[in-house]
Amino acid sequence: MSRLDDLKIKIFADGANLDKIRVLAKNPMVKGFTTNPTLMKKDGVTDYEDFAREIIAAVPDFPVSLEVFADDFDEMIAQGRAIASWGSNVNVKVPVMNTKGEFAGKVIEVLSSEGAVLNVTAIMTVEQVEKIAAVLNPNASAIISVFAGRIADTGVDPLQVMEDCKAALKGHPKAELLWASPRELLNVFHADQVGCQIITVTDDLLKKLALVDKDLDLYSRETVQMFYNDAASSSFSIQTA
Ligand code: E4P
Repeated sequence: MSRLDDLKIKIFADGANLDKIRVLAKNPMVKGFTTNPTLMKKDGVTDYEDFAREIIAAVPDFPVSLEVFADDFDEMIAQGRAIASWGSNVNVKVPVMNTKGEFAGKVIEVLSSEGAVLNVTAIMTVEQVEKIAAVLNPNASAIISVFAGRIADTGVDPLQVMEDCKAALKGHPKAELLWASPRELLNVFHADQVGCQIITVTDDLLKKLALVDKDLDLYSRETVQMFYNDAASSSFSIQTA
């Protein structure tokens, strides 16, 4: 029995590498996929729609979050409608605001009332979640992505923030709270504890799932062995008396 068996949270893989996505789809721990324009740029994607359609076709049985990238609310709505039409497994990612800092409430209200499954993204405050809850169709399935890792990067403990975000979504039983941008494997357990339904995990963190339940004495010894091997293979020496 592993501690992983007790987890209720769903793990979504975050990335923009099609080969990796195909492999990850065979991992029983992975229940969905998310990406964003920055990850796509890093992976050399040049044609957004072609790439997006390829992911949707590669993993038709998994939810796939694809983000609108316009800055004007009407254009965001138009992009959201187009993205939603690409497949029944699509979640339309909508940034919580535009680059002017204006709340994307209109986009969230219109698209969720039309039946699109939204993934509202780049959220970092409870106040933002409260504003989303006020405009989101209460009968719509949706994902609310709070960037807990980025919150932690500022020196703020995200656990309390996530608990408050969870409470702010009370009137939206079909809205799932997503712990985005985890920084360490332990965050999977944090997110589960708080009651987040989903966590996005990059390939690097996913590999660390294999360390859950590892014996720490053994891990300590392996670490010492690593130092020893690396010193030996580098032919390090110290002049001793
Ligand atoms: C989630 O949907 C985001 O793509 C992701 O978690 C962002 O992570 P970052 O803060 O490491 O960029």
